[in-house]
Amino acid sequence: MSHKEFVDRRTFIQAALANFGALALGARLPSALSARQSSPRQELSGGQSNRPPGLSGTPREVNLIAEPSQFELASRGVFQKWLYNGQYPGPEIRVKEGERLRIKVSNKLPESTTVHWHGIPVPNAMDGVPDVTQPPIAAGDSFVYEFDAAPSGSFMYHSHFGFQPDRGLVGPLIVEENKPHVEYDREYTLVLTDFLAGAPAPLGRTPNDTRGMIAMQMPPYVALLLNGRPPEAPAVFDVKTGERVRLRLINPSGATIYRFAIGGHPVSVTHADSRPVVPFRVDALRIAPGERYDILVDARTPGAWPITAFPDNDLPPARGVLRYTDANESAPRETAWPKELSAGRMLELGDLRGVDLPESRKPNRTLNLVLSGGTLKAGGGMMASGGMLSPEWTINGQAYPHAAPLEVHQGEAVRFRISNESSMVHPMHLHGHFFRIGNVMKDTAIVWADSGRAEINFVADNPGKWFFHCHNLYHMEAGMTRLIRYV
Ligand code: C2O
Ligand code: CU
Repeated sequence: MSHKEFVDRRTFIQAALANFGALALGARLPSALSARQSSPRQELSGGQSNRPPGLSGTPREVNLIAEPSQFELASRGVFQKWLYNGQYPGPEIRVKEGERLRIKVSNKLPESTTVHWHGIPVPNAMDGVPDVTQPPIAAGDSFVYEFDAAPSGSFMYHSHFGFQPDRGLVGPLIVEENKPHVEYDREYTLVLTDFLAGAPAPLGRTPNDTRGMIAMQMPPYVALLLNGRPPEAPAVFDVKTGERVRLRLINPSGATIYRFAIGGHPVSVTHADSRPVVPFRVDALRIAPGERYDILVDARTPGAWPITAFPDNDLPPARGVLRYTDANESAPRETAWPKELSAGRMLELGDLRGVDLPESRKPNRTLNLVLSGGTLKAGGGMMASGGMLSPEWTINGQAYPHAAPLEVHQGEAVRFRISNESSMVHPMHLHGHFFRIGNVMKDTAIVWADSGRAEINFVADNPGKWFFHCHNLYHMEAGMTRLIRYV
């Protein structure tokens, strides 16, 4: 593989960033680096600033404007969304490891907001949880987040205010390694989202609605998107024969877990939730809301191949196309279906081993956490409105905010032994810390339904008040959240 191209690409990014300087990282830079798609995008324009990029001690300044925006979903029409900088997903924020990021969030929404930098262990005051780490940013106001972009990896940012992520307020955040543990020739970011046509609302039903459980469990998504494109007009990812391509899979979906595969191409998993792992080859992998996986693909099978993310709901899968520019085919046949999804080797978490895994410590404190709920309650859940039967989701029988904080001491090794006594899957996300699960470091752990178990271990080394919650937005908002408090 050619390291040279990789270096060239980085040089290109530096040039691009230098040109942009303190201006907003808008559509231009991300589109230059993300999937080349069929929709027209603006080109990079230069000469606006000569601020040197990165690591100079000067913070990288980014402007994010959250505002009501129209979003055109291919031929399905125009939807009213709430977006960052008018884009969906939001603009890719891309910096170098260790660089200082200063992000000004301007709130042009008709309600308050905050932004959370999912996966990055920022100082508590920068974590973006309303009324926990900061007062909400009122409509018309702005707030400046500032933190060091470290460690490296694939992250995401999203509103942490109510159901706003499902309005469209999500985006990718990439922190480039100074020295990647793997080499590759080019890279793409792949963001999987479940798309609501209207405003999100708490799940539930009125007492005399007879449609029952289905309506209660599943938000009314109209499509699953890959990089903001529906399956019938998929994003195209160009490669050349012989290249090694890094794909950053990011799932900021509100409620959808995917099984991901690429037709004709086994993949090598290199990072889990941003942290490097010893590359492990599989045919397919699962990715839940809040999770990220980086994979390498060797382009050795010229053609046009389906990229498929098959959901745990009834919607058609999110799709993309891996297209060899030096082959004749330009689109996989409509029926193309990666056999890897049904017949291939699926990644198990136990397959992975972290690179430079910290030594595991005997826990000073072990907490048993039981996930349950889903039963309908009148007025249950933190956002439930009157007259509605809403599911309530609990940790040890308590639904946030009516739930006791989990207390830890600074410096302790903490173990959460989580068991899932409900009939739905819960991807549990910890703010402010990485945890060890099996032989990897992660920040989001799937706890499977019907007696699924997970044991996560973390060191309480980042003082503050931190959220720990299910990353299914509807479970989080209906109580499956706890505060962790340093005492
Ligand atoms: Cu991405 Cu509190 O989460
Ligand atoms: Cu959940």
